[in-house]
Amino acid sequence: MNEMSSFWSTWITCIVLLNIFGCLWLLWWAGRKHDNDVAEGKELKHSFDGIIVIHNAMPRWWKVMFYATIVFSLAYLALYPGLGSFKGAIGWTSIKQWEHEIEKADNRYNRIFADYAKIGIEELAKDPEAVKVGQRLFGNNCSVCHGSDAHGAIGFPNLTDTDWLYGGDPETIKSSITHGRIGNMPAMAAAIGDETAIIDVAAHVLRLSGRKGSGNAEAGKANFALCIACHGPDANGNKTLGAPNLTDNVWLHGRDEASIVATITTGKSGAMPAFRNALSEEKIHVLSAYVYSLSK
Ligand code: HEC
Ligand code: HEC
Repeated sequence: MNEMSSFWSTWITCIVLLNIFGCLWLLWWAGRKHDNDVAEGKELKHSFDGIIVIHNAMPRWWKVMFYATIVFSLAYLALYPGLGSFKGAIGWTSIKQWEHEIEKADNRYNRIFADYAKIGIEELAKDPEAVKVGQRLFGNNCSVCHGSDAHGAIGFPNLTDTDWLYGGDPETIKSSITHGRIGNMPAMAAAIGDETAIIDVAAHVLRLSGRKGSGNAEAGKANFALCIACHGPDANGNKTLGAPNLTDNVWLHGRDEASIVATITTGKSGAMPAFRNALSEEKIHVLSAYVYSLSK
């Protein structure tokens, strides 16, 4: 919070104190004996339209409670921040309280994470408690992109199948999370030629997974030579580059012909952020076990 200017600080302090002392005065004023007072339980003089008003003092317990709230509020404002920019006598701040709570939680959970870090990822993936902890970390850090069930979406890989861009063994998963990944499919339109030629390449790509496109797959096959550097001569991908397997009918950027034509024409890239600064190594370890468990 920005520091309040001293004018507003004084202004707020005055209003708050005036209110509290105003209540105190009102309580005293209403409770004192007036000269023309009617005795308790007797009728007051101003009856109207048949309605009579009887003088009843406020119950003692109610007045005691009212005084108590005033004492409480003054004590509170003396100890905690509340009066303008006055910081309160005990120096409490919400940030300090938050830090204290985080520290307490860290002390508790760091021990658990340290214990998990001693266990191998494959082994840890079989521990239901560890998997549950990993699932919570996943919900907080990964679900925005991969979905809360890790099934992914267009452009964001499904982590629950056995199809991997970079690899599904424990160390590769950990490396994907720690260092991030960038998959870059260049725009190939210029290299291939006109639209018909692109649709032909797409027909060849569709044929690789047993489907039929609207173009001439045989004609498109020749241009696939432009692709093998990344997708491999058999088109089953390259895990170092994150180039997908094009023969398995699992699609990162959409399975219909139009999506495939668009990917070839304008290219696509995907970025998996690195988590080495955002999460401790122990947390990434538990997350890796969770991701590993998903495809098992
Ligand atoms: C900002 C979006 C985003 C977030 C957040 C994100 N990811 Fe990813 N992740 C991606 C994308 C996009 C890819 C694919 C990269 C590519 O296209 O080459 C990916 C790839 C991966 C891969 C490699 C998959 C494979 O097939 O090899 C793993 C494992 C992974 N993410 C796990 C995680 C985990 C665990 C988290 C949370 C700590 C996470 N991701 C958070 C976007 C994200
Ligand atoms: C420089 C390497 C490179 C070249 C050359 C390349 N690709 Fe790709 N391709 C990739 C990468 C990497 C991806 C994944 C992009 C991502 O991570 O978002 C990809 C994705 C694709 C996809 C989407 C796959 C899916 O699962 O949705 C198709 C289709 C594709 N490429 C076809 C081709 C064709 C056809 C050619 C040749 C005309 C080609 N690529 C050339 C690297 C390449």
